[in-house]
Amino acid sequence: MTQFGRQLGIGPTDNTSDQRTPRKPLRLIPSVARESFVPVVPARYVIRTHEWDMTRIAPGRPRGDGTPIEVTGTLRNENGTPIRDALIEIWNANHHGRYRHVEDASGLQLDENFFGMGRVVTDEDGNYRFWTISPGAYLARPDIGRWRPKHIHLSISGGSARLITQMYFPNEPNNASDPMAILMGDGFENNIGKTYETSDLDVDEGYRFDIVVGGRNATFFE
Ligand SMILES: [Fe+2]
Repeated sequence: MTQFGRQLGIGPTDNTSDQRTPRKPLRLIPSVARESFVPVVPARYVIRTHEWDMTRIAPGRPRGDGTPIEVTGTLRNENGTPIRDALIEIWNANHHGRYRHVEDASGLQLDENFFGMGRVVTDEDGNYRFWTISPGAYLARPDIGRWRPKHIHLSISGGSARLITQMYFPNEPNNASDPMAILMGDGFENNIGKTYETSDLDVDEGYRFDIVVGGRNATFFE
C-alpha cells in the first residue's frame, strides 16, 4: 500500500503532559469580542511614515470630506512615566458616520478619499500625534434608535499587552446617553479630548488626549 504524507512517530512520553493540560473546561470568547470591528495587530509592525495623516489616503492625494483635525497626547503608566515605542492604531468613521468595513451595513456614504485607519508610535517622551477627519456620529442600533456620538477608536499595544479605548468629543449631544459613557461615570471626562488652538494651518481643530494605563486615573479601556 502506498503511503501518503509523513508518518508521525510516537516516542516515549515524559509523563508531564497532564501538567500542561488545562484543569478547567475551555471557554469560548464571547461572540461580540470575536466579531468586533478591531483590526488585527501583526506580530511585527512597520509603520509607513505617512500613516499619521489619515486626512488623505496617501501623500499627494485629495483630502477626505469634512473637518481635518489634529489629535495629540502623551501615553503614561500609572506612575506618570511616559511609555515610549508603543503602537497606537487609530480608526474612525468618515465625515458621514460610515466605516470602511464589511460589517458596516449603515448604507451611509463612503468617501473615496478617506480610509479611516492609521498607525503611529509614541516617541521617546511617550508623545503621539496624528491627523484625521472629524468623524460623524452614527446610528449604531437602528432597532432602538441609539446613536453613537462622535468618537475615535484607539488601540494601544506595547509588548504583549493591548488595550482599546475611545476618544470622545466635548459637548456632543449623544455623549450622555452613550452606553460606554454611562459605564464610565465620572471617569468619562478622561475620555473626552480637550480642545486647543492648533498653530497648524492645515488642520481646523486640535484635541489633546492623554492616555494613562493603569492606576486610579486610568483611561477607560474596553
Ligand atoms: Fe465606532
